[in-house]
Amino acid sequence: MKTLTLRRPDDWHLHLRDGAVLEGVIGDTSRHFARAIIMPNLVPPVVTTADAWAYRDRILAALPAGDRFEPLMTLYLTESTDPSDVEEGRKSGLITAVKLYPAGATTNSHGGVRDIDKAMPVLERMAKIGLPLCVHGEVTTPEVDIFDREAVFIETVLDPLRRRLPELKITMEHVTTADGIDYIKSSKSNLAGSITTHHLIINRNAILVGGIRPHYYCLPVAKRENHRLALRAAAASGDPRFFLGTDSAPHVDPLKECACGCAGIYTSVNTMSCLAHVFEQENALDKLEAFTSLSGPAWYGLKPNDEMITLEKRDQPVNFPSKRDTGAGLITVFDPGFPLHWEVL
Ligand code: NCD
Ligand code: ZN
Repeated sequence: MKTLTLRRPDDWHLHLRDGAVLEGVIGDTSRHFARAIIMPNLVPPVVTTADAWAYRDRILAALPAGDRFEPLMTLYLTESTDPSDVEEGRKSGLITAVKLYPAGATTNSHGGVRDIDKAMPVLERMAKIGLPLCVHGEVTTPEVDIFDREAVFIETVLDPLRRRLPELKITMEHVTTADGIDYIKSSKSNLAGSITTHHLIINRNAILVGGIRPHYYCLPVAKRENHRLALRAAAASGDPRFFLGTDSAPHVDPLKECACGCAGIYTSVNTMSCLAHVFEQENALDKLEAFTSLSGPAWYGLKPNDEMITLEKRDQPVNFPSKRDTGAGLITVFDPGFPLHWEVL
């Protein structure tokens, strides 16, 4: 029997939603993960420190009894965000990062930033107080092909911003391209990247071959195979600039299975099993702990968790539910397309 013991993991990019969905999904994260950076793209979004306190309370109230889990709160950056409110949120220990969604880039991002100049006062204050910026790294210009949006964002938004404000610490979230990996590797400081579970497993064929498969649709959209291979190599390298952010993004099935389906893949349920599978395929099981449990805390200036978890490899495939039933409806769980043998004990 193969086993693997790691520090308890954290998820550096997670959507928990609110209300009945929050109640239905949070246990899937708190079962394995000690902490998670909570995305602020609710309707309406989490914009102020007061909003973030209230959302944190709702998350803690929804936790299954006995689970220990710390939500690391973020603020949704708008063109009118008040730098002093952000600083106060940081000083109180509540706010771990601020999230930049280019307006219209993804689910609930219409209130995001259109003109980065308008956000400069907040970004300058964040650089001064050492508060990281998490970016959804895609341009939204209609002329840019959806498969090129990340690469164009790096060139036209991210790189200019980093030259303008080199002191600002930036997490490029859910990197999906070799371009993103190379850009992060080439940077000398203040840039890291999170990688999702699903982008290590699927390429764009999963969405489109043999019929359209909405449960593999997310943003940034999965790219060609060469990009997936670059992500796997980066994740399995142990380079501390790359760590796990699942981007687990639950939407109830009717919102995915329709003429204009939402972006988002729900991976919280089987993420650790999927990752053990991927790292074993890469002959890098010894690097899994860095990816899930060490590099993220180091980047955000936090200690790794003291608790440990153990995974065991079973001869028979492990059964996961194919749907999570929530008070708001069924949510399809990510199907990696192969049997999973690793199980968290
Ligand atoms: C996310 C969501 O549903 O909130 N969707 C997704 O496909 N990842 C938004 C996001 O992170 O882009
Ligand atoms: Zn996300």
